[in-house]
Amino acid sequence: MGALRVSVVACLLLASTLTSALNIPTSPKYPPVVPRQSPFVKPIVGAGLQSERPYNVAHRGACNIYPEETEPSYLAAIDLGADFIEGDVEATKDGVLVMCHDIELSLLTDVANRTEFASKRKTYNNIVGGDGVNTGWFIVDFTFEELSTLRVKQRFPTTRDKSFDGQFPIITFEKYIQIALAAPRIVGIYPEIKSPVFINQYVQFPGGKSFEQAVVEMLQKYGYQGKYKSADWYAKPVFIQAFAPTSLQRAAQYTDLPLVFLYDSFTARTQDTNQTFASLATDESMAMFASMGVVGLGPAKGSLMPVNTTTNYYVGAPIDFVTRAHKYNMEVHPYTFRADSNFLAYDLHGDFLNELLYFDKVIGVDGYFTDHTENAYKYLEWTHPIYTRQDIVSNLRFP
Ligand SMILES: *[C@@H]1O[C@H](CO)[C@@H](O)[C@H](O)[C@H]1NC(C)=O
Ligand SMILES: *[C@@H]1O[C@H](CO)[C@@H](O)[C@H](O)[C@H]1NC(C)=O
Ligand SMILES: *[C@@H]1O[C@H](CO)[C@@H](O)[C@H](O)[C@H]1NC(C)=O
Repeated sequence: MGALRVSVVACLLLASTLTSALNIPTSPKYPPVVPRQSPFVKPIVGAGLQSERPYNVAHRGACNIYPEETEPSYLAAIDLGADFIEGDVEATKDGVLVMCHDIELSLLTDVANRTEFASKRKTYNNIVGGDGVNTGWFIVDFTFEELSTLRVKQRFPTTRDKSFDGQFPIITFEKYIQIALAAPRIVGIYPEIKSPVFINQYVQFPGGKSFEQAVVEMLQKYGYQGKYKSADWYAKPVFIQAFAPTSLQRAAQYTDLPLVFLYDSFTARTQDTNQTFASLATDESMAMFASMGVVGLGPAKGSLMPVNTTTNYYVGAPIDFVTRAHKYNMEVHPYTFRADSNFLAYDLHGDFLNELLYFDKVIGVDGYFTDHTENAYKYLEWTHPIYTRQDIVSNLRFP
């Protein structure tokens, strides 16, 4: 009994010594993730992004771990090696810019269970540029004070961890910027001007500004400026992205920051100009985008590597989109790379690294929008290492 007690105490002491030696936080701000940090990530000394290998763009943060676009999702993405943290800017009724992908809130938050907001449930007819939901709770009907009482939940509840549901609020665009600027190395931001036709229709911004102007002014408030790869840009890297060509055109009136045009399915039409995305993927359209300050194009990965989802799920022949974009000096950052097996084509053998490899070496992309920052980081270290073997060995930490 006595011996047992002594050995229990010894184990506890050993455990606490190990914990401090390994620098594992004892009272984490957020529920811990194992591993909380990729063992290979270390802050980079000096200015600039950690590398210029294909960018690791953390799509909605590390949303494979935490509910998307929340503070812990972004902090985890930074810990796990993101070059950029990505997210969607929308606006509340009182014109506060916030980070949320959906204009209708019931999929991503607990709004449906909040009796105080029952009367805000409504139907919008003829929504332009939404997610196909017309009835529910819409972000533009909430003041920021009301919105901030909601709690975010997991988008993919059957395949991802739901245990963090109900814990974290929607954050402001300003907070998202502050999170990136507080990172221990330079981490870029990659905000999308989301559902601009709808937001401009229903939200009044101070002084009659457009949504696009409000987004750019917030970036300017935090010192984001300069053309792609200028010294100013390297100090505070950012890409402004949108599916609506007129939003990029408007943003370009206020800034020379780099723009990225996003493509929905090629057969879909833009929410603002009602053009098919296919018609915006021609050489002529690419030349037009390049001339207006667009430095990158963001197609769906399935558009570049078509798979036949009706009969089988095998990789098809890639199209020439990337080669043509490069001809106009534009990069290609496709979305969305997800390691969950339900998102992988069969001939990738359930191995996410095969997909990243294919898009890097065969298709030749310049960045990945990914839900799995850590996996992309490991792929990039394997194929385009920043660190020497000695760096890696001396920075290894085991959780
Ligand atoms: C809403 O309430 C239902 C029934 O009580 C519960 O099953 C569900 O988990 C709740 N959803 C959220 C998002 O809180
Ligand atoms: C967009 O264009 C298509 C094809 O010309 C047309 O059928 C559709 O009504 C247009 N939509 C709007 C909102 O103008
Ligand atoms: C998918 O495969 C089926 C059967 O091989 C074929 O008939 C169909 O045309 C294919 N669809 C596409 C888009 O390639």
